[in-house]
Amino acid sequence: MSLRIAFTGTGHISHIHAQAAGAQDDVELVAVVNHRPESRGAFAAKFGIRRQYDSVDAMLADGDVDALIVSTPNYLHAPQTIAALNAGIHVMVEKPMSMNATEAKEMKAASQASGAKLMVAHCWRFDEEAHWLKRQIDAGRLGKILRTRGYGVHVNWGPSSWFVEAKYAGGGALADMGIHAIDTARFLLGDPMPRSVYARISTDYTEYDVDDSGTIIIGWDNGAASIVESGWWWPHADGPEACTQVYGQKAFGQIFPTRLEIPDRAAEKVEVIDAGFPHPREEHCPQVMYDAQMAYFIDCIRNDKAPNPGFNEGLVNMRIVDAALESSRTGQAVNL
Ligand SMILES: NC(=O)c1ccc[n+]([C@@H]2O[C@H](COP(=O)([O-])OP(=O)(O)OC[C@H]3O[C@@H](n4cnc5c(N)ncnc54)[C@H](O)[C@@H]3O)[C@@H](O)[C@H]2O)c1
Repeated sequence: MSLRIAFTGTGHISHIHAQAAGAQDDVELVAVVNHRPESRGAFAAKFGIRRQYDSVDAMLADGDVDALIVSTPNYLHAPQTIAALNAGIHVMVEKPMSMNATEAKEMKAASQASGAKLMVAHCWRFDEEAHWLKRQIDAGRLGKILRTRGYGVHVNWGPSSWFVEAKYAGGGALADMGIHAIDTARFLLGDPMPRSVYARISTDYTEYDVDDSGTIIIGWDNGAASIVESGWWWPHADGPEACTQVYGQKAFGQIFPTRLEIPDRAAEKVEVIDAGFPHPREEHCPQVMYDAQMAYFIDCIRNDKAPNPGFNEGLVNMRIVDAALESSRTGQAVNL
């Protein structure tokens, strides 16, 4: 039987998810939710969706949906996700999973109580260059990993609308962009748990009531440390979204551009192994990454697998975001 997927939110990323879902076998795009009739009407027409609703509750009342993709402003992630999970509907929710870790815990509890799956769309876990570097790390080519440095920065631009209002977004560049760098570092390191977070978070380039600048240091339980930079409107960044540099005892590796640098100290030489991906790539956030993410979500539902990134990964990232904000407020490192 085909899997019936619904969408809430009909903005930028929802179009990408609908395209990804439409490309999968045995999937039906059955319903769309948005309180704005023009927007949901255009979305329904584009993707051949018959049922339209102005709220998730109205859609749930009608039933006949297996999974919901939540791509709304961040303040709606928890209520819409929890409502669907309580109705036994599997959910893939966009990042950041929620406004804060408290909400993320409630979402996890709802998934555990109903048995419906909850995946968090930490998309860089589905990128082929990130996978290439992870394979090198897992094969031991870099040796023990000591530190990473990652970027979630928009250079000379930033978002507008709800993204820059605390009541709708929760946080600014850290929750929007820094979280990509945090999750990518954690993915490459093999999902260690954070032990301490020290951060300076500020609003330096805009008048927004959310942050546009952050420097975060995360200490992990495996001994490694990650530096993450988050920003909007910065004049410079050393790499694009989710660019992550990994320093091992034996070698250095990074994504975007994706390569290894393996020193031979005795010979005073460095072997550079280029992964062979174009740099810069044509589209930094390509549709294939989101297609792979959607295919994985569907596979988790069909084959009853616990998604990774699931509620645990989403929750850890929210705990790091909350701790970074607290550290910046107090000037102290936060122990987790
Ligand atoms: N993983 C990624 O690469 C990526 C990229 C962009 C955005 N995102 C995330 O996706 C989410 C959405 O971002 P976006 O760029 O698509 O934003 P957007 O502003 O383009 O879209 C948000 C949509 O939600 C709709 N909406 C608002 N209130 C609603 C309600 N009550 N019910 C239903 N729909 C409602 C809006 O009308 C709009 O269609 C955010 O959490 C963002 O962080 C992730």
